[in-house]
Amino acid sequence: MTCRPEAFDHNLERLGKTPSLLDTVAALALAIDAKDHYTLCHSQAVSRLAAQIARQLGLSDTQVEEVRLGGILHDIGKVGVPERVLNKPSRLTPEEYNLMKSHTLLGEKILEPLKSKAVEGIRGIVHSHHERVDGTGYPDQLKSENIPLGARIVTVAESFHRMVSNVVYRRGRSVEEAVAELRRCSGTQFDPKIVEAFIRLLETPGDLLRWLRTDDLTGTVPLTPPVE
Ligand SMILES: [Fe+2]
Repeated sequence: MTCRPEAFDHNLERLGKTPSLLDTVAALALAIDAKDHYTLCHSQAVSRLAAQIARQLGLSDTQVEEVRLGGILHDIGKVGVPERVLNKPSRLTPEEYNLMKSHTLLGEKILEPLKSKAVEGIRGIVHSHHERVDGTGYPDQLKSENIPLGARIVTVAESFHRMVSNVVYRRGRSVEEAVAELRRCSGTQFDPKIVEAFIRLLETPGDLLRWLRTDDLTGTVPLTPPVE
């Protein structure tokens, strides 16, 4: 798996962006990497999974690219979260958890100067990727269809990847266990039609399952411990 910001070039070219925007987004990727060198690999895995789900749902090429970039940048706001919080090996205090949650709004703010129609959709993904369809997520407690579709897709891809990843304090779950968890949380945390599309994708013969089972994908990824 490629964990380099050059991966953006291809995506942005397909969106028909100017070199200055391309440079800016590549710089953002480097910013994520500088903060936590595991995050970029994680984000690229999420990006790949999310784009495949978007394709499975029959979205247009432009929408698929939007979801791909949203997947890469969804956690860009973590550049503004203190490293002692990001990398804390034990449970976060409520105050630390609030700092962690602020990465959605920070991320949206970071992308604010990039005034373009394409970036608007990506900002929506960054802003809303921790919403839940039952309305108990953050930052806006949006419900169901009120959550941008791209954000609902990235949420499923992101959660799945975190579940199957090895982290500093636990081994990743198997693909089967992670699928069972997606099903369990379908309709509360996740949009059921996106969960079903992802499961259909996993059941389709191809490279995806093989890739999911490689150490490259599920290498050690530092996770945010739950709030106390
Ligand atoms: Fe996040």
